[in-house]
Amino acid sequence: MTMDVEEVKRRAGPREFSPADDLPEEYRTAATRMLEFHANSEIMGAYLERPFIRQSPSLERKLAFSAKVQDEIGHGQLLYRAAESLGIKTREEMLSDLANGDGKFLNCFHYPMTEWEETPMIAFFVDGAAMRRQATLKQSSWEPYAHAMDKVCFEEGFHVKHGESILAELMNGSRKEQRLTQAAFEEWWPRILQFFGPTDDQSTHHDFAADVGLKTMTNDELRTAFLNSYLPKAETYGLEIPDEPRIRQNDDGTWDVVEDDLDWEEFFSIAKNEYEPGLGQINARKEAQAAVEWVREVLDDREAMAAGGHTGQAAD
Ligand SMILES: [Fe+2]
Ligand SMILES: [Fe+2]
Repeated sequence: MTMDVEEVKRRAGPREFSPADDLPEEYRTAATRMLEFHANSEIMGAYLERPFIRQSPSLERKLAFSAKVQDEIGHGQLLYRAAESLGIKTREEMLSDLANGDGKFLNCFHYPMTEWEETPMIAFFVDGAAMRRQATLKQSSWEPYAHAMDKVCFEEGFHVKHGESILAELMNGSRKEQRLTQAAFEEWWPRILQFFGPTDDQSTHHDFAADVGLKTMTNDELRTAFLNSYLPKAETYGLEIPDEPRIRQNDDGTWDVVEDDLDWEEFFSIAKNEYEPGLGQINARKEAQAAVEWVREVLDDREAMAAGGHTGQAAD
């Protein structure tokens, strides 16, 4: 018998529910929404970084970038599987929604990234922010999600080290490298602070997701935790924190961002896939999806032939 929502809320705890449970549609829809968003973000992040496999300045960086991009695609696939097991959408549907511009993904991956100095903004700061959130998702009530996070978090640790190593090299490099890295940081810093999404009173999905154990920390808690760990790191490498958005220090010594200084109008236009520069990323995904359509067709044909052969044998 299908569990009712009240029972789900009552039982909600780390890794409590699995495909063996008959869960209500509200739970399955909320978990699918989170997982699909997360999986899409992994894929879109990988596509943003892919050109840097070629543009890496050394063999070591090239190897690290190609490993990272493969990891991110793997994370996406793992999460699509964890989403699929909820029975709301198939992996194919999620991938085609992403290519059609209907799939939602992280704000940071809507912005184009073209310069080498920008790469640690993703690999160090955005992956660092992702680690913060993902570490809490190991406690998700949807067991396949939490289980996927064990592998994902392990690999994210390598991504952050790789990003930190590029940042350290650039900030210890020539004056020009330092200047370009500072400029990239100023451009990306507000986007990075928006990574955790809108402030809690503007987030519509949080309450239910928290009540059923899909989320364990609020957007604000995650942002504050990230800020307090990464703001000192940025300063250690010689980056200057921009005046805007304003950062204020609380009585207990922790840091907080003045959220009104962030461009939430741009954020919400991104959230609806209506942000102009972001459409370039979505179109690139569409082209990449179309380019391998023939592979899907061949696989479908083979599957149909195998199924046909099997039926034939059974009839004998
Ligand atoms: Fe990832
Ligand atoms: Fe990553």
